[in-house]
Amino acid sequence: MSLPASLKDNLALPLVAAPMFLVSGPKLVTATCKAGVLGTFPSLNARPIEQLDTWLDDINKDLTEHKTNNPDSKTAPYGVNLIVHPTNERLLEDVALVQKHKVPVVITSVGHPGKVVEAVHSYGGLVFHDVINMRHAQKAIEAGVDGVILVCAGAGGHAGLMNPFTFVPQVRDMFDGTILLAGTLSNGRAIKAAQVLGADLAYMGTRFIATAEALADDGYKTMLGEAQSKDIIYTDKVSGIMANFMQGSLESAGIDISDTSDKKKFKFAPEDERKAWKHVWSAGQGVGEINDSPSVGDLIARLKSEYDAA
Ligand SMILES: Cc1cc2nc3c(=O)[nH]c(=O)nc-3n(C[C@H](O)[C@H](O)[C@H](O)COP(=O)(O)O)c2cc1C
Repeated sequence: MSLPASLKDNLALPLVAAPMFLVSGPKLVTATCKAGVLGTFPSLNARPIEQLDTWLDDINKDLTEHKTNNPDSKTAPYGVNLIVHPTNERLLEDVALVQKHKVPVVITSVGHPGKVVEAVHSYGGLVFHDVINMRHAQKAIEAGVDGVILVCAGAGGHAGLMNPFTFVPQVRDMFDGTILLAGTLSNGRAIKAAQVLGADLAYMGTRFIATAEALADDGYKTMLGEAQSKDIIYTDKVSGIMANFMQGSLESAGIDISDTSDKKKFKFAPEDERKAWKHVWSAGQGVGEINDSPSVGDLIARLKSEYDAA
């Protein structure tokens, strides 16, 4: 087990609210951190780039003030997700803002984290990298990341196919850093289970879409509350990378995944993702456990009591 002191001392629960495209913004992040859970958002949710500068300024001020006014409660640090794919034209500018604001945790995904590691370590920040298999985990560890996020089968977004029961111990065997476990975790007992398996932190996305502070449309939250695990479809037809989506939203967008005559090759590009993900709603198999949309504070209080009971 390995958790840097900046996290160990400031988390009320070993949990990260994962970054979600078009879903996570400053309200979700600050509510999460104030409840003692690491809150995050993808940098590309802030558009244009000037908005990222403003969001980071606002988040830093809000959390510093909260910490000062509540010295006895845990205020978690926050994180920003950077898409490190070569097609992300904003990456260098976003890294410069991350350095300017000394973002405590940077989550890299869809590519190689190498260049970002150096930039973030220069001011003492941490880098956690998203991986879906052993090869990617090995590469990220060699690049010097502080943690790897094991995105397992059934996760929302760009999920993998690995089973956590073997993924976590295999990565633990070769890595002393922080291990985060992602994929369908939706309750406090699952957070405990992630730790028992050998992970340091649980990483939860879909559960946080159905919260008052999430930027998701009401229609998205309603569909998520009604969807069952069987309604989650794993396909590359939306963005070129395999990801999980709710069947109802694929149907509304006219995407027929059984249509094999469609030979169109999709290539990943953040700009295309924005158009696609606005109407095609991603979620993980954990939807089968979610049927309410509480405030972040209420959700985290419930997760904590379930975790303590487990
Ligand atoms: C709607 C949605 C958007 C997502 N967007 C991103 C993203 O922009 N960057 C990223 O690294 N991961 C993204 N993810 C993946 C999450 O960060 C996380 O790995 C995943 O949600 C965990 O699985 P769970 O949803 O089953 O809890 C997204 C997931 C969802 C559901």
